[in-house]
Amino acid sequence: MQRGKFITFEGGEGAGKSTQAKHLAERLEGIGIPTIVTREPGGTPVGEDVRALILKDRPQDPVTELLLFAAARAEHMTAVIRPALDEGTWVISDRFIDSTRVYQGKLYGLEPEFITMLERYTVAPDYPNLTLILDLPADEGMARAETRGTLSRYDAQRIETHELLRQGFLEIAERNSERCVLIDGHLPVASVETAVWQAVKAHLLAEVS
Ligand code: TMP
Repeated sequence: MQRGKFITFEGGEGAGKSTQAKHLAERLEGIGIPTIVTREPGGTPVGEDVRALILKDRPQDPVTELLLFAAARAEHMTAVIRPALDEGTWVISDRFIDSTRVYQGKLYGLEPEFITMLERYTVAPDYPNLTLILDLPADEGMARAETRGTLSRYDAQRIETHELLRQGFLEIAERNSERCVLIDGHLPVASVETAVWQAVKAHLLAEVS
C-alpha cells in the first residue's frame, strides 16, 4: 500500500483556506482517495485546548507561543497525521509549519534556527508533500474575515502587520518552489478550486496513478 500524501494550505487571514481544504478533500474522496481534513493549531483534543488558550489570552512572550504551537504540532503529528499517512490516507491541514515560520519567525522575530530545530523534533521526516499558499492583499483578507465574523486576535492588528505576513508567505513560496504553489486568492472560489486541483494533479496525482 502506498503511503498517503500530506497537503497544507497556508496564507493570511480570510484567504479561503478552510473552504478550499474542504473542497479538495471532497474531490480526492471523489476519485477514491481516503482523505482527512485537519487544522493547526488544533486537530487533537490537546491541540484544540492549546488553540483555545492561545487565541483567547495571547501569551506575552513569543517563545511561550512558539512552544505551545510546537507542542500542539507534536501531538498532531503523532496522534493524527502520521497514523493516517501510514494507512494510506491523505491529510490536508489548514495551516502548518509555514504559519509558524511567518507568524513566529517573521512577525515576532524568533530565530529561524530555533524554529527549524523544533520542526526537526516535531515534523521530520514527514514534511508536507505540497503546500498551497492562497495569496490575497492584506486589506482584502481583513475585510473578508470581518464580514464572516471570524476576526482572530491577529485581525485586530494593523494593516502593516498583515502586509508583513503576506510578504512572509510570498518569500516562502519563492524559496520552496518545489513544495509550494502560490494561488491567487482574488479569483472566485470555483476558480481557486480549479487552480488547487491543477496543482494537486501536477504535483501528486501523476505519481500515484
Ligand atoms: P485561523 O485558524 O483563523 O487561521 O487562526 C489561527 C491563528 O493562529 C492565525 O492567526 C495564525 C496563528 N498561527 C500562528 O501564529 N502560528 C502557527 O504556527 C499557526 C499554526 C497558527
